[in-house]
Amino acid sequence: MKLCINIDHIATLRQARLQNEPDPIIAAGICELAGADGIVCHLREDRRHIIDRDVHILKETINTKLDLEMAATDEMLKIASDIKPYMVTLVPEKRQELTTEGGLNLQTSEFKILPVIEKLKDEGIKTSLFIEPDPESVDRALELGADMIEIHTGKYGLLRDHDDLLAELGKISATARLAKELGLGVNAGHGLNYLNITAIANINEIDEVSIGHSIIARAVFIGLENAVKEMITAIRRVRV
Ligand code: PXP
Repeated sequence: MKLCINIDHIATLRQARLQNEPDPIIAAGICELAGADGIVCHLREDRRHIIDRDVHILKETINTKLDLEMAATDEMLKIASDIKPYMVTLVPEKRQELTTEGGLNLQTSEFKILPVIEKLKDEGIKTSLFIEPDPESVDRALELGADMIEIHTGKYGLLRDHDDLLAELGKISATARLAKELGLGVNAGHGLNYLNITAIANINEIDEVSIGHSIIARAVFIGLENAVKEMITAIRRVRV
């Protein structure tokens, strides 16, 4: 299972002073040298962490693959078309939220999403849709022409009750299995950490995880290179 690192919170720290360090570009290089399979960044409408300059330079400098997370807006579509990341993950975005709060509602937002996926396809950019762990969203993602889904694991990450956890894992696993059967790439992310990654890594249909906060938080104490390596070790205990 591949590990892609979300470096938004390196940029959060930089933006706390609106100066130029720590630089997410340097962070991306360290993550790659430590063994990360890809770099993820979320360019938000309010530019609260990642800024346009970061995405441009990351595209030029990273050696793995760049996953640009963004809302399905005209502004973001233009930026993605100019920069041409390896892939785009479309996410719902609310100005007031602390972080992405859930998957896309593909019933209500499909009219917005379909032309964005078509344009990205024309530009040779793969599209992943961030969805809740439910089979209906997988069917819709396929109909809309997505290449991949990213299953929202945020609720799983917050649950403490054992039965609730098992039920949520069951949903994640069933969603991953269906998506794989239908030929979609299967990613998962949000709220994953060094402990709860084990059960997710046990789901063989999940190709890739996208992890940010827990790794950047650990990096404050042990350094970014070690924090990435620890996560790779945690994954490798269960999956190659
Ligand atoms: N996947 C998506 C779609 C996200 O929006 C985020 C948070 O930016 C992540 C993964 C990473 O989540 P976390 O920072 O909780 O690991």
